[in-house]
Amino acid sequence: MTTETSLTYSVYLRLPEILALQTPVGPPDMPMHAQAAEHFFIVVHQTFELWFKQQLLDLHCATAALDTDDCEVAVEHLLRVAAIQRLLNDQMMLLDHLPPRSFLAFRPSLGTASGSESAQAHQMLHALGLRTSGESPIWVAFRGALNRAGFDLEILYREPSRAGMLYRVAEALVDLSESVWLMAAMHVRIADRAIGDRPGTAGTSGVDYLMEALKEKAFPELWAVRTRL
Ligand code: HEM
Repeated sequence: MTTETSLTYSVYLRLPEILALQTPVGPPDMPMHAQAAEHFFIVVHQTFELWFKQQLLDLHCATAALDTDDCEVAVEHLLRVAAIQRLLNDQMMLLDHLPPRSFLAFRPSLGTASGSESAQAHQMLHALGLRTSGESPIWVAFRGALNRAGFDLEILYREPSRAGMLYRVAEALVDLSESVWLMAAMHVRIADRAIGDRPGTAGTSGVDYLMEALKEKAFPELWAVRTRL
């Protein structure tokens, strides 16, 4: 079975390449605890980016499914995006294990590099209608499916059994909205714990700036309808 061309785990997953991509920038004479902390910091951020990539793909698939009124498939993708989001919230909490003294040993070497430069994090926010003047594609697709089925949000929430899978789609979007808000709250927590009142590396006020994100929730219509029931 083993031939020169047979696929292996390592080749399929490009492991030599992936495992060689954690390149520290901290001073080479940093104590060992700081070197391990920088490796940890890089791995946490890199895995965030891999999961963002998967979430963007699943959101795209969910939007396409809703455009063809295939709510079952849309829910499948949306529940995966929400489940990944819950994982990312726990992953954010991992950073409680970044001791401030270790972080401070390599933080100056980051210069102005900041999570605020993450293109995929911004694509995720935009996909959910956050930090953009444009509409969320998944929201537009959901609204279209709702209209075609002859429902509005109030009827959907008053008569979930009649609405069926469309109700499940709405609640999957609520799950996702809530998890994304919770991640913003985790972000504030871990930043407070790691840098206190220091400014961010991108030059913002730091924790106070991050708290602004808590004022906004994705899919506000799905939150507002709860008050009207
Ligand atoms: C110890 C860990 C972390 C600290 C202290 C921290 C701190 C900050 C601060 C202070 C900002 C504001 C911009 C600036 O001035 O730099 C920021 C922005 C941001 N960070 Fe983090 N962060 C951490 C971890 C993460 C992780 C793991 C991610 C995941 C990718 C992330 C993603 C982002 C994003 C997307 C922004 C832009 C947010 C916005 O504009 O609302 N951060 N971070």
